Amino acid sequence: MQHLTIVDHPLVQHKLTLMRRTDTSTAGFRQLLREISLLLAYEVTRELELTTTRIETPLCEMDAPMLEGKKLALVSILRAGNGLLDGILELIPAARVGFVGLYRDPETLQPVQYYCKLPANLDERMTIAVDPMLATGNSSVAAIDLLKEAGAKNLRFLCLLASPEGVARMKDAHPDVPIVTAALDERLNEKGYILPGLGDAGDRMFGTK
Ligand code: URA
Repeated sequence: MQHLTIVDHPLVQHKLTLMRRTDTSTAGFRQLLREISLLLAYEVTRELELTTTRIETPLCEMDAPMLEGKKLALVSILRAGNGLLDGILELIPAARVGFVGLYRDPETLQPVQYYCKLPANLDERMTIAVDPMLATGNSSVAAIDLLKEAGAKNLRFLCLLASPEGVARMKDAHPDVPIVTAALDERLNEKGYILPGLGDAGDRMFGTK
């Protein structure tokens, strides 16, 4: 898989435009994120391995494709990651789920870890870290560091929006981790927010400020 995949499907792009708009309600934002995450999940799981199993259809026997190996692991980077997670779990209900809690120090913009709970045997699972916003890349890099320390090898990073700065930072620190996103925006502002972006994804999702 290439290092950066932009999912340019018209449905994804349309829903993303609605999410960016200031006048989209909290409920609308959450619903759109759920819908878009299903479409992104389709792309980020493209390389899941298949095996075949012998089945009987009403007409004959066949060797039919099935997912191979251990269930994949989804790791939500709290708190905004949970918005992407919910939608993906609808598509892949058997996935194992982990959480990494990181907040951005408002002064330094550096990530500070406050929680980590991960599924077992990450070394045997495709592991997808999810966070809607790849901004400075600091928390994404820190989360991937943690997942690699826990044994994850086959990693993906799924986000809704990425900045060029964040993509470069991830490529530098984790060139082996493909990024899947709905859009690559222009740049970061001085506070580390993505422009044009959609604001604070957590606040918009949960109605906080
Ligand atoms: N986190 C957000 O929620 N929005 C941004 O633009 C950057 C980081």
